[in-house]
Amino acid sequence: MPGAARADSFRRGGSGDVPPEGTVGRVPHPLQWGSVTIHDDAAPAARRRPILSFVRRSGRLDDRLRRAWDRYSGRFLLDLSSRPGALDVRDGIRLDRAFIDRVWGRGVPLVVEIGTGQGENVAAAAREHPGVGFLALEVYDPGVAHTLLLAGRDGLDNLRVAQVNAPELFAVAGEGAVREVWTFFPDPWPKMRHHKRRLVQPTLAGDVRRALGMGGMWRLATDIDDYALHVHEVMDGRDDFENLGGLTVSLPTEHVGKGTADEAAGLPHADFAESPRFAGRVLTNFERKGLEAGRTIHDFTYRAV
Ligand SMILES: C[S@@+](CC[C@H](N)C(=O)[O-])C[C@H]1O[C@@H](n2cnc3c(N)ncnc32)[C@H](O)[C@@H]1O
Repeated sequence: MPGAARADSFRRGGSGDVPPEGTVGRVPHPLQWGSVTIHDDAAPAARRRPILSFVRRSGRLDDRLRRAWDRYSGRFLLDLSSRPGALDVRDGIRLDRAFIDRVWGRGVPLVVEIGTGQGENVAAAAREHPGVGFLALEVYDPGVAHTLLLAGRDGLDNLRVAQVNAPELFAVAGEGAVREVWTFFPDPWPKMRHHKRRLVQPTLAGDVRRALGMGGMWRLATDIDDYALHVHEVMDGRDDFENLGGLTVSLPTEHVGKGTADEAAGLPHADFAESPRFAGRVLTNFERKGLEAGRTIHDFTYRAV
């Protein structure tokens, strides 16, 4: 099962509540995810599960990705979860300066990308900026494996990958520990009843703000207009972030659900501030598909104030 040996190897080799330098341990490739996690509003509180921004799915690895996992997980994959196959963050883990100093080196600034997919973007950034530390957070096995492949192929010693539910790691982030946070093309969750599963939420925003030092940036992008409105709703009214957007974009001020995006044109609109395309982002398949479908790409830059 995923991570069967990694918790054990950490516990054997660890020396406290954070992993030792490099945070390594040979990690077996995953075989299959567990079951789908569904939030059930009607469930008693004791049995209620957290609302997740992803669905756990089977993520079989082809031979190439399995080899990459076997070869590179020990070097690049951080072991942060509570038990084999879990995507939580175990008790005692802190994404604080002491942890970052141990893993990336003393004083190295850290950029965290949430939901790195195949890892093309975070790997390109790590290649481009060897003096900056990068942390890729991704839950899906093939994405994690592919990111490990890129890190290993290019010897990206400033890049680490963690297979955890990102909001849980930000919940234990230290004040001002992180230079930038990137969230590009988060899963859209288009159905109205699923909007609560969207990754960008007030709680995460508060935790990201704490993780960012004054002046730190949260950069986001989406190709879904309704998600763009959602980001503005979560972020623009906050007094701990400043929207640096210099472009004016008109968006409907009401939400639409799955299959009803066309109806948005007839809804009342308002102007919102957004940013030009972030030059530090490479074109991934998600962005390419959005462009090919004729969708607008929305970029956001929020500075911690
Ligand atoms: C639509 S993809 C975009 C991937 C990438 N950012 C890109 O632009 O190509 C969103 C990714 O976020 C990941 N994801 C969703 N919720 C997550 C969470 N709570 N923690 C970590 N990763 C998450 C998904 O597994 C998926 O790979």
